[in-house]
Amino acid sequence: MASSTRLAAILQAVMQGMPKALSDSHYPGWHLAPVTGLLNDPNGFIHFDGEYHLFYQWNALECAHQQKCWGHWRSADLLHWQHQPIALMPDEEYDRSGCYSGSAVEDNGVLTLIYTGNVKFDDGSRTAWQCLAQQNSAGGFDKLGPVIAVPEGYTGHVRDPKVWRHEDYWYMVLAAQNTQLQGRVLLLRSDNLREWQNLGEIAGSELGGLDAAGYMWECPDMFTLGDSTYLICCPQGVVPEEKRYLNSHACAWLSGSLDYQQAAYLHGPLNEMDAGFEFYAPQTTMTADGRRLLVGWMGTPDGEEMAQPTVAHHWIHQMTCLRELSSRNGRLCQQPIAELQALRERELHYQGRADDAPPIAAQRLEVELESLGDIELNFADTLILTWQQNELRLARRSLVSGQWTYRYWTGAARRLQILCDHSSVEIFINDGEGVMSSRYFPDHPAMLTLRGRAELQARYWSLRRCMV
Ligand code: FRU
Repeated sequence: MASSTRLAAILQAVMQGMPKALSDSHYPGWHLAPVTGLLNDPNGFIHFDGEYHLFYQWNALECAHQQKCWGHWRSADLLHWQHQPIALMPDEEYDRSGCYSGSAVEDNGVLTLIYTGNVKFDDGSRTAWQCLAQQNSAGGFDKLGPVIAVPEGYTGHVRDPKVWRHEDYWYMVLAAQNTQLQGRVLLLRSDNLREWQNLGEIAGSELGGLDAAGYMWECPDMFTLGDSTYLICCPQGVVPEEKRYLNSHACAWLSGSLDYQQAAYLHGPLNEMDAGFEFYAPQTTMTADGRRLLVGWMGTPDGEEMAQPTVAHHWIHQMTCLRELSSRNGRLCQQPIAELQALRERELHYQGRADDAPPIAAQRLEVELESLGDIELNFADTLILTWQQNELRLARRSLVSGQWTYRYWTGAARRLQILCDHSSVEIFINDGEGVMSSRYFPDHPAMLTLRGRAELQARYWSLRRCMV
């Protein structure tokens, strides 16, 4: 499709779709979501020239994984985001099947995007190019074209470049699949963002003593926090265990140390990033004051996405809340960013037995709970959290089969911080040692009801809207 035709079609889709999305009771009040169509991965998250930019995989034309553009938001405070013109559209031969995920850096004062140009062929095969684009003086992005072709020994599944600066070089982690169809993460180096040297594989299924873990490791991200260098990635094809890796595709972190000279990453085992029903393809960046933030797609690519009721309102999926990462004893922890506290309205308290607690309006809500457990938290009969001494269990009916399905977090949960929006619940456990993120589609006004004989202490706030 020619660029001008695509742009006209997107404009029409937004004009027709946006009123339908914004009038949907499930459209978020304070999370980022598409104004129409399908959103997936966060891309190009960066603090640049005094503002934050967050790009995203967006198909404005329909609720389907096709024709991905880079949508673009900008924010001064990480709370209020302004829509920007579309940054990248799949209008070149080398990105004609989609401008896939990637990252952003500041290169000599210029906001520069590194993304995957995806090309699918009629016979079902594909190739991929890692491409550059630079912001111009009008605020738009000029494509500079491909800078990396598929390296020898890999299939066309090579994508999702995440680039950072370390000392005198740019480094990139890149998701790849070798010709034995195993997932790999490659490390590359450059001194000008244009010519890249492939330093080799630093992680992947069957490397470093991992059990068979997948045919593709999407969306890698790498950064140092405290004493550890973390690799976040999304291994596809991880064998589900009884209580872990139950989503159709996993998102996990590894902790270790990276030897930049040897291109060797010595790391421990895979750890699930989020134990909820929807979490995938997160990306991190540094704030102006040195915090490492993460935002994820609160979705999972699976067969059930299209059963979500928002599709009838011409939109699907949202981002997670923004989270600050910390490293505690080699463990990657996530907590909601402090900025979100500005959304809190009047503080309320409860202390006593769960059974005696009043129902709480859950439409836009933050709750902090302390207890020794054996409590049930029922979100509008649609999502039910069973809090036991050594386990959290989240239950939700499948939108396809109607059967109850479960997700688990194993361990002693002493303290929960729960953030609700119109169709999402994010449960932070023990100050971020664990997280369970899930979408749900309650009738509104949704109520949270507590059950159980255990004593608990609760502080809670309803949250202001900040997106619409
Ligand atoms: C992850 C992913 C990426 C790809 C993008 C396409 O959700 O599959 O690997 O770049 O989505 O939208």
